[in-house]
Amino acid sequence: MVRLTGLYKGLVRPLLFGFLSADMANELGQFALRHPIFWKGIRTIPETQDERLNITIGGIALKNPVGAAPGFDKHCQMIESMARMGFGYTIPGSITLNVNHKNNPKPRILRYSEHESLVNCVQIPSKGASYTAERLRHSQSFNMRIIPCIEDFTLEESVKSFEMLQPLSDGLEISLRCPNEPKDGYKFNFMDPHNYEKLLDAVNKHKTNPIFVKMRNYISEKERENRLELVNISMKNGVDAITIPGSLVVEEPRLSAKIGNLSGRAIYQKTLANIRDIYQETKGKIVIKARGGIHNSMDAFEAFRAGASTVELHTGLIYEGPSVARNICRGLLKLMDLWGFKSISEVIGSGRYPRAMATRDAVEETTKRVYRTVEPSM
Ligand SMILES: Cc1cc2nc3c(=O)[nH]c(=O)nc-3n(C[C@H](O)[C@H](O)[C@H](O)COP(=O)(O)O)c2cc1C
Repeated sequence: MVRLTGLYKGLVRPLLFGFLSADMANELGQFALRHPIFWKGIRTIPETQDERLNITIGGIALKNPVGAAPGFDKHCQMIESMARMGFGYTIPGSITLNVNHKNNPKPRILRYSEHESLVNCVQIPSKGASYTAERLRHSQSFNMRIIPCIEDFTLEESVKSFEMLQPLSDGLEISLRCPNEPKDGYKFNFMDPHNYEKLLDAVNKHKTNPIFVKMRNYISEKERENRLELVNISMKNGVDAITIPGSLVVEEPRLSAKIGNLSGRAIYQKTLANIRDIYQETKGKIVIKARGGIHNSMDAFEAFRAGASTVELHTGLIYEGPSVARNICRGLLKLMDLWGFKSISEVIGSGRYPRAMATRDAVEETTKRVYRTVEPSM
């Protein structure tokens, strides 16, 4: 049997990285994912259906807690491929109400291969909410949980996108602001606590399905306090989960915009810190969906122990290949066995070590040793 991870890392990835710019490889990857014919052959990936991985977030029952983060499937055209790759759910987007052709020129994406990371200055090109609605109607048969991510420039547009897409989705994610969009593109400051309450007030009038909110990352202490204030407002206003944003704004003179969003391994520690922060602030009372640098089951396991209820990834798919979601699921099951957890829900926020292992060092040593045997084996 072809071992898919080996094939991807040993052959496909070196070819893609060696001969194509990150922008071109991204376009090629998107083309392949839009045409599930390429994925019919991937029946060689065994299913990872195990009820220990089942989790419910905001009332949505997921077969596993590994989601496809927005960015790849901007226009809801890859649902079948994401399902075939074993993701428990997918987040197409970001989607704006109106068609949005605006984007930065290339180069828009660069690789930091030695850190298994990317930096991008992709804005929010969108075919609009009506196009997405049509795609969602066609995607109902794929047995896949779909949570589109909407990201608009005004309050009124946000509410219209919300109304249009909610009936066709399992839930909706509202992204508060794309760091790659110029500030003056926004006619409404979603990060202002007063405005944020107004937004929640407006969408709550129409809410029938779960709402998730994606925060923006922070750098300064003042920004961190703002994010925690928004989290508290979310709790009071019935938001079903907070999404840790993952990417972080950095300067990169080689990008056309000279500034971009760092994603992948380089921000993983920041992701863990964000999860712990929100978990502590809310005493675990709000669901956390974590993004940023999750590439394997160890990364995911630590995120769950810190307080995340699900993990989502984008850069990990590029570095690890199409079996990444299934590898994570398989690895999680083995780590749960090792640590004595009966379900993934038990792991969330546990931060605990098995009783038999006295010290943190012993735990880490054992986990690393076991980890080498759990992944990646396909
Ligand atoms: C090329 C690219 C495009 C992205 N586009 C979006 C987007 O449209 N909306 C969004 O919410 N996040 C977008 N993201 C961010 C990812 O969803 C994710 O939050 C981030 O990359 C961190 O996770 P990762 O380390 O697993 O990639 C994009 C990321 C990349 C690399």
